[in-house]
Amino acid sequence: MNHFLDIHKTDPADLRGMIDQAHAMKQARQGRPKGTPDDELPLAGRMVALIFEKPSTRTRLSFDVGVRQMGGQTMVLSGNDMQLGHGETIADTARVLSRYVDLIMIRTFDESVLYEMAEYADVPVINGLTDRTHPCQIMADIQTYEEHRGPIAGKKVVWTGDGNNVCASFLHAAGQFGFDFTFTGPPQLDPETEFMDFARAKGSKVEIERDAFKAVQGADIIVADTWVSMHDAQSSRERRHNMLRPYQVNDALMAAAGDQAVFMHCLPAHRGEEVTSSVMDGPQSVIFDEAENRLHAQKAVMRWCLGA
Ligand code: CP
Ligand code: NVA
Repeated sequence: MNHFLDIHKTDPADLRGMIDQAHAMKQARQGRPKGTPDDELPLAGRMVALIFEKPSTRTRLSFDVGVRQMGGQTMVLSGNDMQLGHGETIADTARVLSRYVDLIMIRTFDESVLYEMAEYADVPVINGLTDRTHPCQIMADIQTYEEHRGPIAGKKVVWTGDGNNVCASFLHAAGQFGFDFTFTGPPQLDPETEFMDFARAKGSKVEIERDAFKAVQGADIIVADTWVSMHDAQSSRERRHNMLRPYQVNDALMAAAGDQAVFMHCLPAHRGEEVTSSVMDGPQSVIFDEAENRLHAQKAVMRWCLGA
């Protein structure tokens, strides 16, 4: 049994295996209606709990559809509707859920909830986003880059804006998949040192460049994310927008990077804020492939968790 809690906690060879399996599983069902099962049904007879303490479109749909395509069944639960949201301990919840389901995916606020769930559950637990990381997103992003441009090892990723949870998982992936990472954003929103140190210790070049136009020179991937995440106080909105405006991804920034660069965004995006519509809908954008690949990458993650 394997938990999928964070990219830096997962063996690089296992991560590579999951990406390769995701590519293969995507290929194997090209052109089929989404509701048809895969040829192999590795989750037949398995019940999966999908718990959301924050809103979600992609994570909810992609996990639910992915389980069904692999022959399993799902229960989609909101934290608020469970006793979890009314004071039952995480440890007790984990032990109870383990009697009903074979796999737990949870999206929560504090990552201690995820880690405690994993400690007390007898079944695998998957991180569906916390305030600090979003590993499933980055698995889909690696798959997406590689299907467009080939191996990601040795490439340069430029993160623009807020050094948030998605940025943190990208830094973990830089270390595990062997690519370089440049952060461009205001100093108040730098990624936590711990995430940069992990990538550096694994041999990746990690840089901070305050000038977005300098940062994107030679970039292979330019990434943006919302300027105000679900865990950020709404009262910080105006201050964050003022700090982040110089880091908007627009046509001028993409031109400075060059044609080799792809544009990525985990979505949901705020058109006209962190990225312009012309970039989102432009020829270098791979955002909807990223969204699709959540499905394929997470199917591989679930198989790895269950050894199925
Ligand atoms: N990218 C992502 O995780 O989207 P949702 O919040 O819609 O799940
Ligand atoms: N950084 C964003 C990602 C949403 C998928 C958030 O946490 O709200």
